[in-house]
Amino acid sequence: MSKITLITASARKNGNSNQMANWFTEEAKTLGAEVTAFDAVKLNLDGCHFCNACFKNNHVCAFEYGFDPIAEAVMDSEILVFAMPVYFFSMPGQMKNILDHFYSFLVGGKSMGKKTIVAMGTSGQPVDSNVWEGVTAILSKTAGMMGWDYEELTYGVMNNPGAILDTDAEEKVKALAQKLLC
Ligand SMILES: Cc1cc2nc3c(=O)[nH]c(=O)nc-3n(C[C@H](O)[C@H](O)[C@H](O)COP(=O)(O)O)c2cc1C
Repeated sequence: MSKITLITASARKNGNSNQMANWFTEEAKTLGAEVTAFDAVKLNLDGCHFCNACFKNNHVCAFEYGFDPIAEAVMDSEILVFAMPVYFFSMPGQMKNILDHFYSFLVGGKSMGKKTIVAMGTSGQPVDSNVWEGVTAILSKTAGMMGWDYEELTYGVMNNPGAILDTDAEEKVKALAQKLLC
């Protein structure tokens, strides 16, 4: 069974990026995958302290024990989905704090295996305005550094909650899940 870690980061529970995440989850589960989901906004983790004490004293991070369940899911997953809105040309801070904790996998010398990072979400500006560059650069370079695969699916002009329902996103999101899982 394929295992997926999904991290969302919208301040709006019923926002467009969470809807994309819901469609991905629905299709993945239909295809028999196991999805472990985390809401970066609710978790609101502290950032990395660069203490290099990762994976010591029974915790992945010596300062932020809230990263323990995320780390466990990430190490155990073949697919990592980061679903979010664009905030100031980048990812929401809570999401970036979680990503910064991936440093612990390097310090801990963890053998992570082959994975695919999926970047998905919505922005206010149109996608062709390059508004996603900040997010996609971070996640595609992370995938490259780890030797993982990378996929992205983004939609612009999505300020109104529910705007995503008037697009082809459901079809595209589910097709992406099928591509990764079938
Ligand atoms: C704090 C904040 C910063 C934002 N910055 C940008 C931005 O730099 N570029 C952009 O296109 N949209 C920006 N937006 C708009 C959101 O990206 C957009 O409305 C998105 O679709 C919201 O996703 P959600 O529906 O999942 O909450 C910003 C919104 C907020 C609240």
